[in-house]
Amino acid sequence: MHAYIHEWLSLLLRWTHVIVGIAWIGASFYFIWLDNHLKPPASATDDPKSVGGELWAIHGGGIYHAQKYRLAPAVLPPELHWFKWEAYWTWMTGFTLLIVLYYMNAEVYLIDPAIRALTPWQAVGIGLGAIFGSLVVYEGLCRSPLGRNERALALVLAVLLIGAAWGLTHVFSGRGAFIHFGAILATLMAGNVTNVIIPGQRALVRAVNEGRAPDPAHAARAKQRSVHNTYFTLPVVFTMISGHYATVYGHAQAWIALVLIAAAGALIRVWFVQRHKQQANIAVLLAGIVALAAAAALIAPRSSPPTGNAAAVKFSDVRTVIAQRCTTCHAEKPTQPGFTAAPKGIALETPEQILRHAAQVHLQSTVTRVMPPGNLTGITEDERKLLDAWFRAGAKGE
Ligand code: HEC
Repeated sequence: MHAYIHEWLSLLLRWTHVIVGIAWIGASFYFIWLDNHLKPPASATDDPKSVGGELWAIHGGGIYHAQKYRLAPAVLPPELHWFKWEAYWTWMTGFTLLIVLYYMNAEVYLIDPAIRALTPWQAVGIGLGAIFGSLVVYEGLCRSPLGRNERALALVLAVLLIGAAWGLTHVFSGRGAFIHFGAILATLMAGNVTNVIIPGQRALVRAVNEGRAPDPAHAARAKQRSVHNTYFTLPVVFTMISGHYATVYGHAQAWIALVLIAAAGALIRVWFVQRHKQQANIAVLLAGIVALAAAAALIAPRSSPPTGNAAAVKFSDVRTVIAQRCTTCHAEKPTQPGFTAAPKGIALETPEQILRHAAQVHLQSTVTRVMPPGNLTGITEDERKLLDAWFRAGAKGE
């Protein structure tokens, strides 16, 4: 019953997280696009009102006319829409999901004894320390003198993030490391909204209401942080879906693949923003594609000699290994605590089921080696070799 409730908690949280995430990123992409497409106001009466730019658009059967003020209108309208709850809800649901999926099931998803034999509490402590420690370091750097030099700051952040990718993949399971890398970036993004962008907007509104000139430092700081958020977005979305790709996170050099894919995401976003301004530099897009290709080349399966004696492998031995090491989870009714159904719908109880999923069984247990997760069921090297030899000899059912 407990596992079943957990399943629903996970389902509802993940669903909500994706919905509010779409609302946050959607609004943020839209405003970046809008900002970069503004044209000087066409009507002479708009300019004296201090309208700096405008845009006409058609959407959903209506025609819209958006105007952006250079700073603010002389008098604020009674109703001003704020965009912040999308960000807050995305972070809150994401953080809760991290707890529900990874921290409540640390032994399955977060810990890999082959990488480091942590206790669940140690793993959770390192995870939380990495997320909130990064926030403190990032805020410190942005507010330090370094924060005034865009390029130097970007360079230092890139080096620290590469260090984080390396460090995380050396303490956690591959997927645990990837999700923490994303959680760090996402926490910096939400922190930028809470700590800088929204307070800056409050200061602007206060200044207008009090008839004072707003402090331009707020706007400059908010601009810097929203630029960071723009380039963090695609890497974060990659880490959100990365749990599906054991070939990436399960690789021995997964940290390099993570860095390359994150860099590709940032570069591709740079290129899109340049395109909005009609300043697209094809070299940036190519650099992103090269980074992706490099990641693909890095983790491409290498052909290696079979690790076991194919001729001697009997299907009955394969079945025994799978029954001992896999079917605690991969069964119609798993016996592993916390599981209510076969993971990914893959049951491995009957010969037909094993033969049908032979390629996946081979990939997950001998190539990426992410199965069994955290080697909970204690599969041995010889047993992995046996599965490998069986598959390479044609995965026969006899
Ligand atoms: C402790 C429970 C557990 C054990 C034991 C286990 N698995 Fe899994 N397996 C999972 C979970 C959880 C997933 C789903 C992972 C995900 O969300 O991507 C999974 C997914 C898979 C998949 C599908 C991967 C995909 O993304 O399509 C295969 C294939 C697989 N396991 C094979 C095996 C094999 C072979 C063994 C035994 C050597 C094994 N598993 C042992 C929990 C387990």
